[in-house]
Amino acid sequence: MRIAALADLHFTAAAYEGIRTSLERVRDEADLLVLAGDLTNYGKTTEMEPLLNVLVRLRLPIVAVLGNHDYESGQHEELMKMMTDEGIKVLDGTAYERDGVGFAGTKGFIGGFGRGVLTAFGEPEIKRIVQATLDETLKLERAMSQLRTEKRVVVLHYSPVVGTVQGEPAEIYPYLGTSRFGEVVDRHGANVVFHGHAHHGGREGKTVGGIPVYNVALHLLQTQDPPAAYRLFEV
Ligand SMILES: [Fe+2]
Ligand SMILES: [Fe+2]
Repeated sequence: MRIAALADLHFTAAAYEGIRTSLERVRDEADLLVLAGDLTNYGKTTEMEPLLNVLVRLRLPIVAVLGNHDYESGQHEELMKMMTDEGIKVLDGTAYERDGVGFAGTKGFIGGFGRGVLTAFGEPEIKRIVQATLDETLKLERAMSQLRTEKRVVVLHYSPVVGTVQGEPAEIYPYLGTSRFGEVVDRHGANVVFHGHAHHGGREGKTVGGIPVYNVALHLLQTQDPPAAYRLFEV
């Protein structure tokens, strides 16, 4: 299966023509499109409507997770329903199998990497943040344990490894993801992980267990040489 992956469209009506043109050929190059969150800019249904207009015309299976921007207006449930109604598989701690390839996805969350991982110590406010991260890792755990396929693709919005946030200011690394998700991926095994969110991070990384991780934030794809609208991967 040829997969095209991208993230961080941050779609607004003004971007309609540009996005439509950049996705024109995706159907010739891929069998499935992965959208790794931040589909909209402010998480509004009025942004999702024209974006869906572009996406349904691709006539390609689409697997997506939401990103933090898609939560901004408190309309994330409506966004998920709109997408689901158009046949898009929105993964939120869930799994999907197609043509022998398993997809497990969830948004992910913040928390930092390696020795810098935020732990549940001290104030209740800190414990709540850590709990939110742990709840989200459990969702990925559940999604991955549902997969029965040998080929597995993980879709997140936040980064599961530090390698693909490098390039961003070090001060904000902990807000770009957490290696707690990398641990879950390694425990279950996967062929590849796609994520976004770190618009100025690195394009490629690896989990501790050696699983390739690709940051497919649109800004990164557009600034590579030659520029691309999505990253292609064969699984
Ligand atoms: Fe983004
Ligand atoms: Fe984001």
